[in-house]
Amino acid sequence: MKKVRKAVLPVAGFGTRVLPATKSIPKEMLPAFDRPAIQYVVDEARAAGVEHFIFVTGRNKGAIEDYFDRAYELETTLKEKNKTALLEELDRLCLPPGAASFVRQQAPLGLGHAVLCARDLVGDEPFAVLLPDVLVHASPSCLAQMTAAYAEVGGNIVAVDEVPAERVSSYGVIAPKTAGDQGPLIEMSGMVEKPPRESAPSRLKITGRYILQPEIFGLLATQARGAGGEIQLTDAMQRLMGSQTFHAFRYAGRDYDCGDKLLYLEAFAALALAHPELGKDARAVLEAVLARKP
Ligand code: G1P
Repeated sequence: MKKVRKAVLPVAGFGTRVLPATKSIPKEMLPAFDRPAIQYVVDEARAAGVEHFIFVTGRNKGAIEDYFDRAYELETTLKEKNKTALLEELDRLCLPPGAASFVRQQAPLGLGHAVLCARDLVGDEPFAVLLPDVLVHASPSCLAQMTAAYAEVGGNIVAVDEVPAERVSSYGVIAPKTAGDQGPLIEMSGMVEKPPRESAPSRLKITGRYILQPEIFGLLATQARGAGGEIQLTDAMQRLMGSQTFHAFRYAGRDYDCGDKLLYLEAFAALALAHPELGKDARAVLEAVLARKP
């Protein structure tokens, strides 16, 4: 079985749900406490052994490319000022030479189309997709848990977790083969993108972490538009289920969706509280703010 070495990160979206914050900076660069949201996603994938990162970008996303590059002027200044700890941290966060590729999605045609743009860069091997809107707080990292499951069952794997019935229509939703299946690996009989609440096959939503086989690309290339008039990854995966195995994987951890303002606030607060050095002080700050009279 081939190892999952490459990850696709679709970062072309406009971030309209968090405007005006995203008018001139990519939403992936908004801080989640002390680092840009995208850093958590890259760290999650690196912890799973991913060696190459393929960013599917769009216009005005240059800040992401700059962020993963070395910043010589900054590093020289920090060196002169003996800021060794900061320098070490920047060094740790930098990607190794040649480990990042950038390809542009030229039109906003949907997630399936964004993944298709990475076809040549991925080549003929299994790969991960991580949606940077979703930050997953988990140890081992969500993708590391998925690659461990992949080593057991192979095929294709999508991370899922349960959401209240009123939220299913915002997500891709899977149909488990056996109702009430409680284990972490769930056999699936289908999946559907943004189903109406009444016809959703379950309350297990796709979390935005995938391990996929390269045969998905041939299907994405011919995929008709689906929900929202977009080329949906979920629809191509549903077709691939005809010839390959798919498992849903209930990871141990918690996801934070940074896709809208209040969910972003939740992610920011949760990651501040979970910070290894500053978490305790962050809690005191948040409690003090909440205790103030409006
Ligand atoms: C995308 C996927 C959906 C998934 C969701 C996770 O939807 O199409 O299947 O459940 O991400 O956040 P989007 O949020 O881009 O509408």
